[in-house]
Order: sequence, then structure tokens, then C-alpha cells
Amino acid sequence: MKFFIDTANLAQIKEAQALGILDGVTTNPSLMAKEGIKGHENILNHYRAICDIVDGDVSAEVLATDYDGMIKEGEMLAALHDQIVVKIPMTKDGIKAIKYFYDKDIRTNCTLVFSIGQALLAAKAGATYVSPFVGRLDDIASDGVELVAQIVDLYRFYGYNTEVLAASIRSTQHIIQCAEVGADVITSPLDSILGLLKHPLTDSGLAKFVEDSKKMNA
Ligand code: G3P
Repeated sequence: MKFFIDTANLAQIKEAQALGILDGVTTNPSLMAKEGIKGHENILNHYRAICDIVDGDVSAEVLATDYDGMIKEGEMLAALHDQIVVKIPMTKDGIKAIKYFYDKDIRTNCTLVFSIGQALLAAKAGATYVSPFVGRLDDIASDGVELVAQIVDLYRFYGYNTEVLAASIRSTQHIIQCAEVGADVITSPLDSILGLLKHPLTDSGLAKFVEDSKKMNA
């Protein structure tokens, strides 16, 4: 399973990259705005900076919501760096844009996916990644992990190449649950990734080893 970090914060991206387990980055307009990134050139420079830090795929979302605007913006983003994956919303124009980019060998991430039907369309259109939003489904008393499991099963049944990228991950437990149902990728805030490191028996066991190592040096 690939690990992406879901942030536009350069310090956190660097920290995750330094761990040696990072496979890519996802961003969205809310995450970019949170970092205070404004204006066309600053946006492009920020994506360039992210690509300089990581080796893997970097999802950059189009701001346009109409077909022509998505095509124009997506082509510009894709030309920016070969690590860029154009992130496109799950709409009628979005599906048309994903098919256009598929025919041009430009990789896409279909975002804001909340149903199996939407995931089916994304795969049919040739999306490189599909992003079901786990946490936002849980927020409305639905089951985000269950949707990830359904999409994984559907894609395997039909042999679609689209990778299932579990997004809107809110906890370490979400990462584990998405891994258990066979997600190809999870994209997560740094804290939830770091949570995988933690176990009280590791801490107490290490404390004992450190204590006993002093006897060995005595
Ligand atoms: O990748 C999409 C993700 O950032 C959405 O997360 O927590 O805003 O639902 P959240």
C-alpha cells in the first residue's frame, strides 16, 4: 500500500519524506488556502516546491469547475512537473475531463467520490486514482471504509487499473482499516501516519532495554 501525505504544508511534507516511507502528496484548495498560498504564480511555485521534496506523485487540484476551464488548468498543471497528477472533481464535466486527459496520457485523481456508482464512472473514464472520502462519509453516519472495500472489490472484479486512494483519513485507525480492505493508497495527515509508530509496550520495552544496557556498559 502506498502512503501519501494529505497536506500542502512543506515542513510536514519534509518530515514525512525524511521517514523514508512517503510515496506522494495530495493537496486540495482548502489545504492550499490553509497555508496562505494565493495567486497563480505562488500556486505553481508551491507545487514545484512540493515536487522538489518528494519523489512520488503530487495531486494538484483544478480550481475551475467547467470542462474548458478544467482542461486548460489541468494541461498547465501537468506541464509543470512530471510528478503532477491532475485532481478533478467527480462531476459530469469532471468525468469528461478525466477521459480527455486519459487520451492525452495525463494522469488524474478523481476527487470527492462518495458512492460506488461515482467510482465506476471514474474508472470507466480512465482515472489514475479514485479518491473516496472516508472521514466525510463517517461524518454523516455512513461507512467510509465500507465504500473503500466496495470499490476495491468492484475494480478487482472487472480488472480496472484505477488505484483506490482512500482520502479524508482522520485517524490512525482509518489507515489500518483501509489497509485491511485492500486500498492501493491512503492519503493522510502526518499525525495519523505517525500514530502507526505508537504502542505502549514498545515504549516500556525500550525503557527496560535502555535500563539494562547500562548494566552491560558497567
Ligand atoms: O484528500 C481529501 C481530504 O483532504 C479531505 O479531508 O478531512 O477535509 O475531509 P477532510
